[in-house]
Amino acid sequence: MAIKITLGNSKGGVGKTTTTCLLAISLAKHFNQRVLVVDFDAQADATDFLMRTFQVNKDLTNHLSIFDAIKSPKRSQEAVLVLDDNLHLLPSGEELSGLDLLLLEKGVFGKFEAGLYLDLVIQQIEHEYDFILFDVPPTSNIQNINAIVASDYYIGVMMTQAKSYRQMAGFLKESEKTAASARESKYGYEGAELLGILMYLENKKSNIDFTVISAALETYGDAILYSRVYERERVKRYDLIPPNPNKFDQHDKKIFAMYDSLAHEILMRVGKVSATEPKLRIQQLLDLAADSLNRDEYNTLAAAFDAAQFYRDDATEARDFTAAQLATVLRDIFENAPAQKRRTYIHRILDWLQTDEDLKSLQHVFA
Ligand SMILES: Nc1ncnc2c1ncn2[C@@H]1O[C@H](COP(=O)(O)OP(=O)(O)OP(=O)(O)O)[C@@H](O)[C@H]1O
Ligand SMILES: [Mg+2]
Repeated sequence: MAIKITLGNSKGGVGKTTTTCLLAISLAKHFNQRVLVVDFDAQADATDFLMRTFQVNKDLTNHLSIFDAIKSPKRSQEAVLVLDDNLHLLPSGEELSGLDLLLLEKGVFGKFEAGLYLDLVIQQIEHEYDFILFDVPPTSNIQNINAIVASDYYIGVMMTQAKSYRQMAGFLKESEKTAASARESKYGYEGAELLGILMYLENKKSNIDFTVISAALETYGDAILYSRVYERERVKRYDLIPPNPNKFDQHDKKIFAMYDSLAHEILMRVGKVSATEPKLRIQQLLDLAADSLNRDEYNTLAAAFDAAQFYRDDATEARDFTAAQLATVLRDIFENAPAQKRRTYIHRILDWLQTDEDLKSLQHVFA
């Protein structure tokens, strides 16, 4: 059975579609997973992006879309477009905006049953895949409800803006509500669970980002994914010139390092790869340190770690180590540190974070 995931947030333009598509490419091409992207947005951005990326020049006028599949689930398989060996697409189109009307005609509008239609489609084809990713529209509506009903998990995509923070709360609440209705219904659903919250960082020099990240960590704790998506010119450029998944240049490789980290973390969270691999667990490190710190020190360290992780793409590259190596070293330092020494260690780490030195020099500090 496929693992089905919806990426959402009730706000528009937070990079849901881009993240869904690049994550799908990463899972399929770099982690050898069989992936289906279901474009469940009438804007058809994912359809457009993926078709351009994989140079599928098919005219979709006479091809079945997700809307046709909703109308006759038995034809779902016919609607699937092959983009690459491991990556398939259930395309969308404008006609999907007629979904409300269709549900009205079927007499289910406003009832829980209106949320079951996407799942009927997925049931027909899910055995073919390891992952199914749903791309949904920005506003909370019947599409989102259908996607959550059909999903095992949802991921909230959160921009580091105060507004997005509030909207995240709305998205989580609505998703929980839908999942609860599914669980309590007579249809035997387990109900989708929150898999994690993905931070989308707009401006790496902004203090607002730090403030929002700290607040989000406090509210959502472990739900915050350690993988983050940074705003990058290259990704914007993909709107015009899509990546070539079979021939990445240096810039594409850097971009995919972000989405590969996300793919890897998702594989860990759903139990498909071992969770013992080194990973950046800033929150865990902070928890370990918390007992020895007063509030100010804790906040300083949290901000410093955030900054370090924040800059990690550039910093780690310049300093010639990976984020995972850094995480391992930090974790070892804390695990082996006697309580009375933690505070001293933290100050050494703070000092080190502000230098340009490589990872070995950090180990020297504690030798
Ligand atoms: N990591 C990134 N760096 C830079 N630009 C990005 C990044 N991710 C997405 N974008 C850009 O942000 C814009 C909005 O992205 P996208 O369409 O993925 O958002 P969305 O949340 O799906 O929007 P909607 O709510 O309208 O569906 C696009 O122009 C996209 O190229
Ligand atoms: Mg979108």
